[in-house]
Amino acid sequence: METDELTHSVWDITEDEFPVASPLREQGKFLLRYAILAPSSHNSQPWQFAVRDETIEVTYDETRWLEVADQDKRELFISIGCALENLCIAAEHFDIGYNITYHANKDDNLVSIVTLETESEPSFSRPPKLFDELTERYTSHQLFEDQTISQETRDKFSRTIEEDDVTLYLINESEQKRSIGELQADADEAQMADPAYRKELGYWVGMGALGSSWLMARIGQAVVTHFDLGEREGQNNSKLIERAPVIAVLATHADTPTARVKAGQVFERLALLASAEDIAVHPMSQTLERPEMRTELAARADTEGEYPQHLFRLGYVEEERTHTPRWPLESQLS
Ligand SMILES: Cc1cc2nc3c(=O)[nH]c(=O)nc-3n(C[C@H](O)[C@H](O)[C@H](O)COP(=O)(O)O)c2cc1C
Repeated sequence: METDELTHSVWDITEDEFPVASPLREQGKFLLRYAILAPSSHNSQPWQFAVRDETIEVTYDETRWLEVADQDKRELFISIGCALENLCIAAEHFDIGYNITYHANKDDNLVSIVTLETESEPSFSRPPKLFDELTERYTSHQLFEDQTISQETRDKFSRTIEEDDVTLYLINESEQKRSIGELQADADEAQMADPAYRKELGYWVGMGALGSSWLMARIGQAVVTHFDLGEREGQNNSKLIERAPVIAVLATHADTPTARVKAGQVFERLALLASAEDIAVHPMSQTLERPEMRTELAARADTEGEYPQHLFRLGYVEEERTHTPRWPLESQLS
């Protein structure tokens, strides 16, 4: 197998393989096997890692940036935040301490430096069992069942991120969901009417990154690239939003690359908690991809002056969990 081919084999990790007696450098590399299971927009996996003794430099790969859909690199930094969070959760599980410094900006591709330590002293407590979900989590695209998420569970989500500089808005009121659903339909239509957007999406579908077989991926690429399916897509997606029991929006005071990385960490922690609670998660980014729509989303989600960074549906669904492929870790190391 070429080392740069997308593969599902990355999901088969057993913790027994952790190199207990090896130096931190080798242990760090093992932790990265969990980092690359993180979600990313279009499964673009924009991360690169350089492991040097006890430090791991996390950078972004410009060639994996969604230049059209994600012009301000919001999704790119969120995706890298997701990988960082997986790294932290795996480190805690194996009793490895860590310290993260943030360096993200739009011009230079260094995002953060993680320093590993043999003595573990977690800076704050994450809910237990998130580690087990690293290899279970997946994104659902189904219509969720008509079943509410209890106040107790919603409070659990809120508590999980109370020490972070990121605010979680959980929207379950019908009128507000309807209004966000309408905005979603407008955003889908606007994005899909742009041939450059369709071409970029088609490229990732064609690569098989979104999980279908090679042939289906090629057919999908042709359809996405050549036909404007915006209206149909918009109607479907607005229904997905209106019928979801909860729409979650993450927002930050600052609109900086680092704020986005931190929003990504929080999103991934919530996605893993949801996975543990058998709650499905579906990010939907189109309303955030155009500045004027993003401002409108802030108003409709009522984010109180904060910048919305990420939107996702939460709900229950009966379906088999399936995994999308990843590039093997070796191809992400520099
Ligand atoms: C920042 C970000 C934005 C995303 N936006 C969307 C989206 O707009 N629509 C969608 O269906 N999935 C979206 N996703 C989910 C990705 O497509 C998914 O994570 C990726 O295909 C990998 O699959 P997995 O999450 O099942 O491992 C997003 C994920 C991230 C991290």
